[in-house]
Amino acid sequence: MATIGELLTAGTVRLRASGSESPRLDTELLLGWAIDAERTALIAHPEAPVGVDAAAAFEAALVRREAGEPIAYIRGYKEFHGLAFEVDGRVLIPRPETELLVEEAERDVAWRLISAPRPPGTPNVRVIDVGTGSGAIAVALAARLSTRRMLPEVTILAADVSDDALQMARVNAVGHAVADAITFLQADLLPAGDAPFDLILANLPYIPAGDIATLPVAASFEPRLALDGGGDGLSLVRRLLAALPEALLPGGTALMEIGYNQGPAVEAAVAELPGKWECRIQADLSGKPRLAHVDRS
Ligand SMILES: C[S@@+](CC[C@H](N)C(=O)[O-])C[C@H]1O[C@@H](n2cnc3c(N)ncnc32)[C@H](O)[C@@H]1O
Repeated sequence: MATIGELLTAGTVRLRASGSESPRLDTELLLGWAIDAERTALIAHPEAPVGVDAAAAFEAALVRREAGEPIAYIRGYKEFHGLAFEVDGRVLIPRPETELLVEEAERDVAWRLISAPRPPGTPNVRVIDVGTGSGAIAVALAARLSTRRMLPEVTILAADVSDDALQMARVNAVGHAVADAITFLQADLLPAGDAPFDLILANLPYIPAGDIATLPVAASFEPRLALDGGGDGLSLVRRLLAALPEALLPGGTALMEIGYNQGPAVEAAVAELPGKWECRIQADLSGKPRLAHVDRS
């Protein structure tokens, strides 16, 4: 039986040869997954033998990783906003930069609930996550609002054009005990008949179609529908912006994740909307423009 140390060494050599930028880390994550142990345990016990079944699972995972498949699809989950989300090739792997959108959405909802008196009968704050994918945004937001005991005063919808994605989003809502708080709907952007909303959240595809072939190989395992934003990347974002006058209540806000160089185009599109709107672009933790706040007066 091979030991942990031997498998780590051999796996690292193989993943380095296959072009992984983080071969040791990848190997530790995959072996830890295969033997159901923390990375720290692997490092502390290199002499421990690895059972035959676990070694076979590790070997199969290594082969997939050598082909460029993302670790998240191999392990079947990705951490996002402190929660583990189940993922597979039907959904985009949630990205760390999208946590900013969840944080701003939580801040917005809390402000709406706290800043003014809410006598009995006050309608719920209405929120929709457009292009929910794995459910990352809607589920993480619902989980936070549940912890803060705010969830009963909030109505959350989550929509996606992909029924495959919605199935995964439902699994994640169940897994994080917020399935009763979210209504999942299949729709091209906004579902008919459910507007208006106080808060519209969207991490829609925003990669220019021509750039997709240049993305790292890992992205080729993700659904094209989750990446392809059309010619300049903003086809869907512009369509959603154009729908805001019908879809957003006065005083409402849309929070939309965008590409680092798309802020000026989004501001220009907001300037074309009928009525009074403000748009500001917030940078993410790495300092890149990332989140459009579109406020309706
Ligand atoms: C970039 S992924 C984001 C997934 C998830 N919200 C996240 O942040 O991880 C974009 C999602 O938008 C969905 N989508 C693409 N076109 C759409 C459309 N016309 N209407 C609704 N959803 C769409 C895709 O299926 C995909 O799940």
